[in-house]
Amino acid sequence: MAMSLKRRDFISMDNWSREELSEILDLASRQKEDPGVYRYARPLTGRVVGLFFEKASMRTRLSFEVATYQLGGQTVFVGPESGRLGEREAIKDLARVAARYLDCLVLRTYKHETIVEIARFCDKPVVNGLSDERHPCQALGDVMTIREKLGKIEGVKVAYIGDANNVCRSLAVALTKFGASLTVASPEGYGLTPQFLRSLPQGHSVRQVSDPMEAVSGSDIIYTDVWTSMGQEQEREKRREIFRPYQVNEALLERAPKAFIMHCMPAHRGEEITDHAMDGSRSIIYEQAENRLHVQRALLCRLLGAQV
Ligand code: CP
Ligand code: NVA
Repeated sequence: MAMSLKRRDFISMDNWSREELSEILDLASRQKEDPGVYRYARPLTGRVVGLFFEKASMRTRLSFEVATYQLGGQTVFVGPESGRLGEREAIKDLARVAARYLDCLVLRTYKHETIVEIARFCDKPVVNGLSDERHPCQALGDVMTIREKLGKIEGVKVAYIGDANNVCRSLAVALTKFGASLTVASPEGYGLTPQFLRSLPQGHSVRQVSDPMEAVSGSDIIYTDVWTSMGQEQEREKRREIFRPYQVNEALLERAPKAFIMHCMPAHRGEEITDHAMDGSRSIIYEQAENRLHVQRALLCRLLGAQV
């Protein structure tokens, strides 16, 4: 299938239409069903994807590296030991040089602004592989997983329990694009801000509440993420106390007897989620992790104009 050659970045998903995202998701599903589609074409032969990660990663790094290899390309990884981007040299210098070596840049940073700044000075596609602000690749995989499990995304009711962090914000944007609803339950001071809610398109169905039981009632999906994200480690003890009532456990699951359970991983078992919820029959967490590979492969095809 021929895809558009126009250069695009994938930084926050806000400027991607539902149709464009659906095109990527459809390709991801086709490739998942029939790996022969890309295996023989190897459309990224001779192309190199650079991964610049200021923070640890398992799924994002592995899925981008494996996806690139499966498409016939190669990757270069620059990890946290190289320090934060912009420390050794100006971000614009890094961006201008990297663009001359690489065909695509995947970035995992603390500051979201670092990714935006690199994209400004780089004429190759830039992908946000997680920033403190957003995690759009995760949200793309999550929509694929929900579509697969429920057979639809429009009208689906998702409850997110815990810290309204990068994962939660990207999930809110993605679900809004696809006409699904999101109810977020968080302790006071850790929810989606009024400013973020105002930034969503008019008519969105994203709601902030404080009671996790209220959030999960009638939901199709219960989603959670860590209480302490990367970069917040010094707050871990305090957060453990504050978030204790926001654990995804048996009592909460009883409130939504049909809901599937999702978690972007890595999980802190015994904190935001119990073993029972993580390992039980309603967990779709590992399919969710697998789908990161399929959406990332399709995203690379789209961004690099690969003919598949
Ligand atoms: N979900 C996710 O992005 O996992 P990693 O931090 O391991 O990449
Ligand atoms: N909110 C988590 C997500 C990890 C994939 C973090 O930023 O550490």
